[in-house]
Amino acid sequence: MPLKNKIEELKKRKEEALQGGGEQAVAKQVAMGKLTARERIIALLDEDSFNEYDMFVEHDARDFGMDGKVLHGDGVIIGTGTIYGAPVAVFAQDFTVAGGSLGSMHARKITKIMDYALRMRIPIIGINDSGGARIQEGVNSLAGYGEIFWRNTLSSGIIPQISVILGPCAGGAVYSPALTDFVFVVDKISKMFITGPEVIKSVLGEEISQEDLGGARVHAQITGNAHFYSESEFECFEQIKKLITYIPWNNNRKARKFESKEPKTVFNISEIVPGDPKQPYDVRNVIRAIVDDSDFFEIQEMWAGNIVIGFGRLNGETVGFVANQPMVMAGVLDVDSSDKAARFIRYCDAFNIPLCTLVDLPGYLPGVDQEHAGVIRHGAKLLYAYSEASVPKMTVILRKAYGGGYIAMSSRHLRADFVFAWPGAEIAVMGPEGAANIIFRKEITEAESPEEMRRQKVEEYKEKFANPYVAAAKGYIDTVIEPEETRKLLLHALEVSSTKVADRPFKKHGIPPF
Ligand code: HXC
Repeated sequence: MPLKNKIEELKKRKEEALQGGGEQAVAKQVAMGKLTARERIIALLDEDSFNEYDMFVEHDARDFGMDGKVLHGDGVIIGTGTIYGAPVAVFAQDFTVAGGSLGSMHARKITKIMDYALRMRIPIIGINDSGGARIQEGVNSLAGYGEIFWRNTLSSGIIPQISVILGPCAGGAVYSPALTDFVFVVDKISKMFITGPEVIKSVLGEEISQEDLGGARVHAQITGNAHFYSESEFECFEQIKKLITYIPWNNNRKARKFESKEPKTVFNISEIVPGDPKQPYDVRNVIRAIVDDSDFFEIQEMWAGNIVIGFGRLNGETVGFVANQPMVMAGVLDVDSSDKAARFIRYCDAFNIPLCTLVDLPGYLPGVDQEHAGVIRHGAKLLYAYSEASVPKMTVILRKAYGGGYIAMSSRHLRADFVFAWPGAEIAVMGPEGAANIIFRKEITEAESPEEMRRQKVEEYKEKFANPYVAAAKGYIDTVIEPEETRKLLLHALEVSSTKVADRPFKKHGIPPF
């Protein structure tokens, strides 16, 4: 056959493969308000940068009517491309082909691109839209999931792994995303659950919609499984592209450096934090007053709002911010906020992103609910993550730093490299009221006017301990600074610590309180 004809044949084969699950299935996908798998990849990557591999892969299943059934690309598209010039590997499940269900060849395509990403040390982005294990392929599907999970774990901390949930993700389909670093969900489109409504109904007799069981809001607000929430697929892709600008390609690199830009003047750092320690405020405005161009990219914004995490830049360099949020539950630490911060700290540490911690909290949340929910175990994750992190660690105590909260929030004792405190900082074992009630109980109850005595003792305690100078006198704080000096000092701290060495004794790995 002449080459010309062979080229024609190639074109024809490609055209067929590009049809995915066919007109009807594509129409159903569109009717659900979803893009097709290929459209998603094109929208996400730089123009004309996508190269597809394994387009002609075919499944080899024979049972339950699979013999001879054509499943184009076996329901998943894989390839490589770029985002703002940064190389990425990508796979997108095609729900129009057998519901994007995962058979053995489908799994082999995903593991092939995962292996490629790890070998090339580039980020991998998985777009998930799948009915889970392909029921007709039995244990071969389960084996496929196992191979994916194993690779997720192997790649963890070496290359960034990003999951996008753009359809139903049932059964095994949710566990690979759960093992990755960042999970993106879209309102009304994303669904994640282990067992679907039908199973729940038949086993438990309970009726629940897919949305209420595991919709985008459920995972962005209640479970914390999702890191980014958006209203549309296009908004979601913009978020992913932005994230890619903040993180390095792999753990041997630094994130890309941008031009430094001063923060916007609308964020006046001296006027954000009220003097009264009981008054709330939005700590994100303090971050905006510090970072380049006041641009703060928040992560898990809708979950565990009492702690704020996200990326900003200082002098063009990516920094991970962790800050107590006095606007939500006075910024206390609890089970969820400890989990949220601890995981982020480990991410930053793995990917050479310096950490900046802003402290203003009354301590850990007391109560039976928290104790029984395991606040000891979860709270310990935060101590572990900060202690273990060897990237440059800078801490600014804005106002309150009481009790365990003082230690946990990147204190000198957990090896912060720089600890600065504002003049209004109060560093004590607990708040002055609680402290006075305990240590002066006798004097207060025996006084002629107990209320007056309590007031006096609270003042006395405040005078003595509720300031930064006792800690500064011990060198636990490096310097007490005016709020306006914060950015300048942080830029300097970052510069000085760019060659930081933090040697640790060899170990296979630690045993964090998972
Ligand atoms: C084979 C599947 C499939 C699956 C969907 N399809 N899921 N084929 N295996 N797991 C097929 C359907 O038969 C249908 O084919 C097409 O995909 C579209 O599916 P619909 O049901 O028409 O779509 P929709 O109404 O939108 O519902 C989507 C859904 C539902 C909610 C995902 O299909 C569903 O509940 N699927 C099963 C989910 C599940 O229980 N998966 C197994 C999990 S066990 P046709 O030919 O009619 O178009 C698992 C174990 C791994 O994953 C555990 C590892 C730890």
